[in-house]
Amino acid sequence: MSLLELAAVAKRFGTVEALRGVTFAVEAGSVVALVGDNGAGKSTLMKCITGIYRPSGGTITLAGLRIDQLEPGAIRKRGVEMIYQDLALAPQQDVAANIFLGREPTTRTFGLPLGRIDHARIEREAARMIERLGARIPSVHYQVGQLSGGQRQSVAIARALTFEPKLVIMDEPTAALAVREVDHVLELIRELQRQGIAVILISHRLTDVFAVCDRIVALRQGRVIADELTASTTMTQVVAHIVGAT
Ligand SMILES: Nc1ncnc2c1ncn2[C@@H]1O[C@H](COP(=O)(O)OP(=O)(O)OP(=O)(O)O)[C@@H](O)[C@H]1O
Ligand SMILES: [Mg+2]
Repeated sequence: MSLLELAAVAKRFGTVEALRGVTFAVEAGSVVALVGDNGAGKSTLMKCITGIYRPSGGTITLAGLRIDQLEPGAIRKRGVEMIYQDLALAPQQDVAANIFLGREPTTRTFGLPLGRIDHARIEREAARMIERLGARIPSVHYQVGQLSGGQRQSVAIARALTFEPKLVIMDEPTAALAVREVDHVLELIRELQRQGIAVILISHRLTDVFAVCDRIVALRQGRVIADELTASTTMTQVVAHIVGAT
C-alpha cells in the first residue's frame, strides 16, 4: 500500500473535463514531480487531494483510508499540507508569529487555558522548527516582509512542519527565486524527505525536478501521459511528454 493512491480521478467544471482517469501513487517519504503545460490540470488535481474540490469520479486514499469525500480540515488532520504559491504569510508579522498564524498556543494555569497567547512558547517552538529544517533564518524576530523569497519559502515549510505532515504539496516553490535561493529550497525538500515526509512538487523548472525528485508524473489535458522514475528518463523526454510530442 502506498501513502497516497489516486485511482481514476476525474473532475469536470461544466463541460470542461479538467481531470480524466488520473491514476498514480506516492510512496511514503518519496519526492514526486507533477509536471505539465499550463491548464494541464495540476492545480485542480492538488485541490482534489486537499479537499478544496470534490472529484467528479474516482477515489483518493491516504494510508489506505479514503479521503476524497472529506472536508479540507479533516484531510489536513490526516497529514496532508499544501504550500500555495502566494504562501499565505503575513508580511508585517515576525517569523515566529507566521509559523503559528491562526492557531497560537495559549497560556495555561493549572491546566486551564487562560486565552492569552503564549509568546514564549511560540518563539521556542518556531526556533525548533527552523532548527529542525536547517533553514537559514537569522532570527524568529525578523518580520517576514524583510526576508528574501527563499527565506519566506522556508517559513512556509516550517509552518507546514508544525502540522506533522505525512505529505507536503508544493506549488512552484522555486518559480520566483534567485538562483542561489533555489538550491536552498531544494535542500529543504531533501530534508523533508530525510524526515520521512513525502513531497509532491509542482514545477515548470525541470532542472529542479531532476535535482530532487524520485519520480516524474506528467499530465496533459487532464490525463497522466507519463509516470517514470527520474533515473530512467531524460529532460528531453519529459519536455516531449509535456508539449505532446509523444
Ligand atoms: N474553477 C474552475 N472552473 C472552471 N474551469 C476550471 C476551474 N479551475 C480550472 N479550470 C480549468 O481546468 C483546466 C486545468 O486547470 P489547472 O488550473 O488545474 O491547470 P494547471 O496545470 O494548474 O495550469 P498552470 O500550470 O497554468 O497552473 C483548465 O482548462 C482550466 O481552465
Ligand atoms: Mg496551476
